[in-house]
Amino acid sequence: GKTYKIAVIAGDGIGLEVMPEGLRCLQAASKKHGFTLSLTEFDFASCDYYEKNGKMLPDDWVELLKPFDAIYFGAVGDPRRYPDHITLWGSLLQFRRQFDQYVNLRPVRLIPGVQSPLALRKPGDEKIDFWVVRENTEGEYSEIGGRIFTGTSREFVTQETIMTRIGTDRILDYAFKLAQGRPRKLLTSATKSNGISITMPYWDERVVEMSKKFPDVKVEKYHIDILTAHFVARPQSFDVVVGSNLFGDILSDLGPAITGTIGIAPSGNINPTGEWPSLFEPVHGSAPDIYGKKIANPVGMIWAGQMMLLHLGETAAAEDMLSAIEQVLGRGDFSEITPDMGGKGRTEILGRAIEKAILDM
Ligand code: NAD
Ligand code: IPM
Ligand code: MN
Repeated sequence: GKTYKIAVIAGDGIGLEVMPEGLRCLQAASKKHGFTLSLTEFDFASCDYYEKNGKMLPDDWVELLKPFDAIYFGAVGDPRRYPDHITLWGSLLQFRRQFDQYVNLRPVRLIPGVQSPLALRKPGDEKIDFWVVRENTEGEYSEIGGRIFTGTSREFVTQETIMTRIGTDRILDYAFKLAQGRPRKLLTSATKSNGISITMPYWDERVVEMSKKFPDVKVEKYHIDILTAHFVARPQSFDVVVGSNLFGDILSDLGPAITGTIGIAPSGNINPTGEWPSLFEPVHGSAPDIYGKKIANPVGMIWAGQMMLLHLGETAAAEDMLSAIEQVLGRGDFSEITPDMGGKGRTEILGRAIEKAILDM
């Protein structure tokens, strides 16, 4: 079988706790399907590294990471130690930009066995199963702006939103293609062109332009405020939802919350050209409030590993991993599932249960 070089960066907080479970399940899948994951662990992109080195990354991080087939990433940040804008802009956001991971792909799926906080959904109800496609390199996340008159009563700050034609078109193209490949072929665009009067109308304009190339895809657009309400009221009606960097960020926490817990949600930061390595991580952060208790849900990390295998072309192994997740969650064993899903399980117990299910597939 093939060998894939994977950079492993656990980061901070529960990133350190869920990473071993993700690796355990990936190793089970690789053993079963006859390929090799050659793992290299790095301690940068963490508060400990920052404390020792005064920076989040070594100077040669681009050359270090570029040769890898993919990056498997936990979570970074601990606001009790260092401000988030230093730790996050110094690490994860650098990866996304330097490696041109312009697609942030995040699934939202109601998995039987995981209780939704919404009205009880019965068998036969429509499934909740959609993708959030988030623009991942520009938009509201920009470094253009400034602070002047600092410390005076005239102090003020600005921060620009950047939408380039290339950046907007390439994320829309990805989202349209994803929608085209699904049975319902429905694309929902998140906008706010009623209030944000320059960038958001531009986004809408590019959606209309792109839709001409995909006549079979049905397009709808909603302003972000009402879209969040529709997510809660009728999540089963979405198929592919595309949004700017900030809107995609918000929608991809809301979606998994509706399906039970953000603890199960994975995230692919994808460079579709293959010029740079793509990065796979859970949607959640380092959860300082539960770090150390060993109760973090490892499913987001494991499912991110599943997305990584799909990206590498190991389709059969990826299918096994997803089936294993569904099988274990589906039996709803309280001694296995973690407290965020209403159980008494611990991180390692759930990770081992999914590992075993993969090996038994
Ligand atoms: P968070 O996702 O870390 O936690 C939000 C809430 O969800 C907390 O109550 C937490 O206990 C719970 N939670 C998160 N993941 C869970 C899991 N796997 N199992 C069970 N419960 C889980 O978000 P936050 O509190 O806003 O941020 C904490 C730190 O993480 C900050 O430094 C933030 O910037 C950072 N962060 C990093 C990433 C990343 O590395 N990709 C993403 C989001 C936030
Ligand atoms: C995410 C996170 C990051 C983001 C933060 C930690 C900078 O919330 O991956 O969703 O906003 O992109
Ligand atoms: Mn987020």
